[in-house]
Formats: sequence, structure tokens, C-alpha cells
Amino acid sequence: MQAIDLLLRRRSAKVLAEPGPDEGALALLLESAARAPDHGRLRPWRFIAIRGASRQRFGELMAEQLRRARPASTAEALARERHKAFRAPLILVVAAVCDPKAKVPQIEQILSAGAAAGNILLAAKALGFNAVWKTGAAAYDETIKAALGLDGNDCIVAFLYVGTEATEEAPPARTEWRDRLVEWQGQGLPDQAGAPPRSQRDGSPSG
Ligand SMILES: Cc1cc2nc3c(=O)[nH]c(=O)nc-3n(C[C@H](O)[C@H](O)[C@H](O)COP(=O)(O)O)c2cc1C
Repeated sequence: MQAIDLLLRRRSAKVLAEPGPDEGALALLLESAARAPDHGRLRPWRFIAIRGASRQRFGELMAEQLRRARPASTAEALARERHKAFRAPLILVVAAVCDPKAKVPQIEQILSAGAAAGNILLAAKALGFNAVWKTGAAAYDETIKAALGLDGNDCIVAFLYVGTEATEEAPPARTEWRDRLVEWQGQGLPDQAGAPPRSQRDGSPSG
């Protein structure tokens, strides 16, 4: 598949099943992730692979988080939460471990981890798998972070569920972007040294 087709066709997986990525495919996913733009070469990303039997324990963690957040949760709701860990053969947790002393602002370190997660989604598709990006309250829960070996200041940016698409793949809906594009035409800049910005002269918005 051409790279542009991959970009245009990506959509989140609906139902994922075995097989998940083997060691070789996992290495490629993570190599792709590590190619994410990274201001200052800080490598702020951490990846935690949860697969096989470890998903049972992860499901327990998710259910415990729900029970803490909503003590009145029914047994069915807790079971549903537990079952989420089995949505895919592989869960890749992508976290940003930011260096607070770095000159690069924290937001940029988190964005780099987000870009790494995006690369994994695309690489999974390129390798014949698919994936879906989830977060939810679990991503912000201190107990879950600690259980995954992360610090309270670390940010979980994604739980990526990765596996083989189990359903027939529907063509992706066309994504509208035109209403999100503005062609900037120089508003707000002085035309020449010392001249006031155009917006102050003719009342046009400065953007
Ligand atoms: C940072 C981030 C967090 C997300 N968290 C969730 C989530 O917790 N639950 C969910 O259903 N979708 C979540 N999504 C959205 C889905 O991954 C998906 O992108 C969305 O449903 C649109 O589908 P598409 O990817 O096929 O266009 C999240 C997306 C991002 C970027």
C-alpha cells in the first residue's frame, strides 16, 4: 500500500482479534514510534506492552479504577471494564515521561509521545494489523500509573489496542477538513517598518 493511501484510509479498528503482532512486528511498531518528531532528542516516550495472560491483571486494574471512581458500579459494569483488556491481543501503553529541567516545554514532550502513538497506529495498518487509541479515566489514574511503573507526573497518552481486524473493513468516510483551513494573508503585520498592523487601520481581524 502506498504511504498516502495508508494515511487516507486509516480508521480505528472496530473489533480486534488474534493474531497480534509477533516480536518482529512489535519491534517494527516501536521503531516507527521512535521515529516520531522529538524536540531536543529527549526521547520522552515510554512503551509498555500488555499481552497474553497479563491482560487479566490489567483488566482487574481497570475494574478497580472504576470501583474507586464510582463505588456504586454494578457487577456488570465492573465485568465490562475487566473485559476491555481482552479487546485486542496486544495493548501498547504509550506514556510521556517528561524532563521538567529540559528547555523543551512539557507540552512538546507530550506531543512527541502523541506523535509516537500516531506512528504506531499507521505502522500497525501498514503491517496488516489495525489498532484503536483509547484513554478514558484509567489514563489519568495514579494507581494505574504506579502499577505500570510510571510516576504521578508521567502522562499516559494512549492505550493502543492492536490486533487483526475481525470484521470486514468498511471504506473510511471522507473526512472534511476545508472548514478547518484558513489561508493567512499577512494580516496583523506592518506593511513596512513603522506602519501599524493592517488590522488597526481597516478594522479587519488580526487573527
Ligand atoms: C488522545 C486520544 C484519546 C482517545 N480516547 C478515546 C477513548 O477513550 N475512547 C474512545 O472511544 N475513543 C477515543 N479516542 C478516539 C478514537 O481513537 C478514534 O480516533 C475516534 O473514535 C475516531 O475514529 P477514527 O480513528 O476511525 O476516525 C481517542 C483519540 C485520541 C487522539
